Amino acid sequence: KEVFFNGEWLPSQAAAVSVFDRGFMLGDGIYEVIPVYGRQPFTMEAHLGRLREGLHAVGIHYTANGLLDRVKEAVERAECADGLVYIQVTRGVAPRTHYFPEGVEPTVLLYAYPFNFEGFEKKLVDVVLSPDLRWHRCDIKSISLMANVLANNAARQAGVVENVFEREGWITEGSHTSVFLVHNGTIYTHPKGQHILPGITRDIVISIARETGIPVREEAFAVADLPRVEEAFLTGTTMQVTAIGGIWINGRKSVVSTDRGPVTRRIQEAFIKQTN
Ligand code: PDD
Repeated sequence: KEVFFNGEWLPSQAAAVSVFDRGFMLGDGIYEVIPVYGRQPFTMEAHLGRLREGLHAVGIHYTANGLLDRVKEAVERAECADGLVYIQVTRGVAPRTHYFPEGVEPTVLLYAYPFNFEGFEKKLVDVVLSPDLRWHRCDIKSISLMANVLANNAARQAGVVENVFEREGWITEGSHTSVFLVHNGTIYTHPKGQHILPGITRDIVISIARETGIPVREEAFAVADLPRVEEAFLTGTTMQVTAIGGIWINGRKSVVSTDRGPVTRRIQEAFIKQTN
């Protein structure tokens, strides 16, 4: 399998990163994951736009312009119809310091791999509520994912696929998904800002809801109001639009829905149309 690494396509075994790479040593880098449906990268410009914003926010000087063609090449080279493109840009290789080193070249990695999205619209998953122990710049898609890794691993150990973070009594998002809750027929999702990642799938779902005439509010939803939720779903590049069946809170399951609800179904149907 080949990867695009620092300007060239190489077999993955031949792509060696320095032990002094700041991504390896400090988690000092930005990443993206782009979905590929039927050999077509989906919402590629939006993902590259978010990558540029992230790099700018952390002062990594790299023009992601060339990556558009690299993403297309990755998809052509990968022998799969459906998959994911992973992109990572780290600050580069330099002796370890906490401040930015001067004159370093960013390290760039990009590759595509097969991924099976099928059946997300048939699933009903449980999630666990976990404290949001992340930093206050969750809008930056940083490769430092320790809090996300710990929370999702705890969810897996509890036998569910995802955790839903709560910060000061409010639902923020999942470890790698955005969270939507339906109450009195209105869809709620946490507003953009420093406590969530501005999800590309989230944007698509909000516009679908608006076009379909389902009321949407970009307002935080209180944990205390979870028992009154009629439907809930997760969105993201790897989970598309997946219905939530129940939410585990302190070892007790709060049932959201025993089947996929009507709002979730309508969003899923419109989403599938866009990706076909
Ligand atoms: N995660 N929130 C967080 C914290 C995320 O890491 C992600 C994506 C999302 C959903 O964003 P989008 O719809 O743009 O994929 C929300 C990627 C897929 C990952 O870490 O693998």
